[in-house]
Amino acid sequence: MGGDGLSNASGDGRSGLFHEFTSVINPLLREDLFAKPQPMELEIGCGDGGFLFGYAGDYPDRQFVGVERLLGRLRKLEKKARREGFENLRLLRFEARYLVQYLLPANAFEAIHIYFPDPWPKDKHAWHRLVNKEFPEITARILTTGGVVHLRTDNEPYFSQMQEVFSAHGGFVHEETPTELAARRTEFEKMFNAKGIQTLRVSWRLT
Ligand SMILES: C[S@@+](CC[C@H](N)C(=O)[O-])C[C@H]1O[C@@H](n2cnc3c(N)ncnc32)[C@H](O)[C@@H]1O
Repeated sequence: MGGDGLSNASGDGRSGLFHEFTSVINPLLREDLFAKPQPMELEIGCGDGGFLFGYAGDYPDRQFVGVERLLGRLRKLEKKARREGFENLRLLRFEARYLVQYLLPANAFEAIHIYFPDPWPKDKHAWHRLVNKEFPEITARILTTGGVVHLRTDNEPYFSQMQEVFSAHGGFVHEETPTELAARRTEFEKMFNAKGIQTLRVSWRLT
């Protein structure tokens, strides 16, 4: 593994859990991420992996891709996961929207987890939000048919926006988040709940 975090994946004789990008233009193939095909899930903005570490550990027969732009957070997750010998986790240090829109393989993910994306609460900054009008279409490209997007936020206006854009797309149906999944709280969620802040969640399934 190199020192820049844009380094190599492992589990297949390679070193480290980071995926090494050799191009920022050519789309990734599924086999660039994992040699053996198994059901694959994505977490966008995984932070230091409070959710992903436990989830990937409990489901060794599924494969998980964590995307995060902050190297320090990913390194923390990588250290813990390597210590446990995880072979079903790949970490991508990259800007999430571009990655989902252009680089991740099509029809590849059974689930996408997006927990507490930055809410950009001021009106003049709201255009920065990840989950905007275009987002359902770009996620539909990488989901398998029947794949699900799981969303959580503490910010009510952003939650309304999430609901509006997925509803308006027309290709997704609204679902309750499964109880087992909902019980797995993320680091930010624990922090919000400890402060008495209510968190909101929803899932949208691609039909
Ligand atoms: C509020 S934190 C939530 C972290 C984690 N999901 C949790 O719930 O504990 C949002 C995370 O998303 C990452 N992030 C925000 N925008 C991003 C982007 N465009 N691409 C990749 N990561 C992003 C941030 O660096 C941060 O770690």
